[in-house]
Amino acid sequence: MPRFVPHPDRRPAAVTGASSGIGRAAALALAAAGHPVVLGARRLARLEEAAQEIRAGGGEAHVAPLDLADPGSVAAFVKAAGEAVGEIDVVVSAAGRNQPDSAEHSDPDDFATTVAVNLLGVQRLVGSLLPAMVRRAHGDVVFITSEVVRLPRVRNSGYSASKWGLHGYARTLQMELEGSGVRASIVQPGQTLSEMGSDWDPGVTTELLEQWVRWGVARHDHFLRPQAVAAAVMSVVQAPAGTQFSLVEVEPQAPLPARPRHQPPTGGGGEEPAGGWGGRT
Ligand SMILES: NC(=O)c1ccc[n+]([C@@H]2O[C@H](COP(=O)([O-])OP(=O)(O)OC[C@H]3O[C@@H](n4cnc5c(N)ncnc54)[C@H](OP(=O)(O)O)[C@@H]3O)[C@@H](O)[C@H]2O)c1
Repeated sequence: MPRFVPHPDRRPAAVTGASSGIGRAAALALAAAGHPVVLGARRLARLEEAAQEIRAGGGEAHVAPLDLADPGSVAAFVKAAGEAVGEIDVVVSAAGRNQPDSAEHSDPDDFATTVAVNLLGVQRLVGSLLPAMVRRAHGDVVFITSEVVRLPRVRNSGYSASKWGLHGYARTLQMELEGSGVRASIVQPGQTLSEMGSDWDPGVTTELLEQWVRWGVARHDHFLRPQAVAAAVMSVVQAPAGTQFSLVEVEPQAPLPARPRHQPPTGGGGEEPAGGWGGRT
């Protein structure tokens, strides 16, 4: 018996949050690499648009509705995915909810919804797909978490708590899956230019960004593109059998400064960070 099952030629993938941002980019990248892909999220028209793009490029794509806050929807998605492409070998858990809130004054129902989407629904989905992977001794589960695990953010308590929970779940799963042939990996992105935050009140966004700069996050105004995070996902999935990328931190590189780094400042206030989710570059 080989020490590791080699990657099969056909590796069907399920991608959550595939209607926009990182999930959409990951679905396109997987399809371009030959994976049959099932795209899940709530906005079916947006999923279908992404699937059309994949098919136009010669790839295989299917769409299935998914609301991670609804256990029935998760079960229906798992069933639909299996019927569309067979047993899933790659799961990319990219769906996420992020609404501004307050650790002190959060509406408990809103807090619970964030945890339901970002943690409980993910556990339900992954738990449904894992047994077949373990039986085949092969598969990849990729959790998109967030740099909030390293640096929690003011007025982002539900999101930070849910991503910390997801990180803890993924880390535990990694230990339990050791020696099973199935890899659980964490991709932990920094600030990324996606639709996340686009529905926030601009005044709240500005206030939060000021707070985040004050607390040492958002050190500069460059944002990752979703394709950059998708590239990290592909590295994880394409890592040779016998190799595991347990945690991949993906950070936007800081832009070059206006004055060369070797020149000392000549006085004045220096450059202010310009951006964040309200002033994307
Ligand atoms: N943007 C960032 O700065 C950043 C940084 C670190 C980590 N992340 C993480 O990256 C992942 C992708 O986010 P993104 O930046 O690409 O944001 P995005 O463009 O807003 O995408 C979020 C995705 O999640 C889906 N979604 C939201 N609620 C859902 C639910 N109840 N059930 C199923 N799907 C749901 C959305 O689809 P529907 O609305 O169609 O359901 C959408 O496809 C998230 O897990 C996020 O936490 C983002």
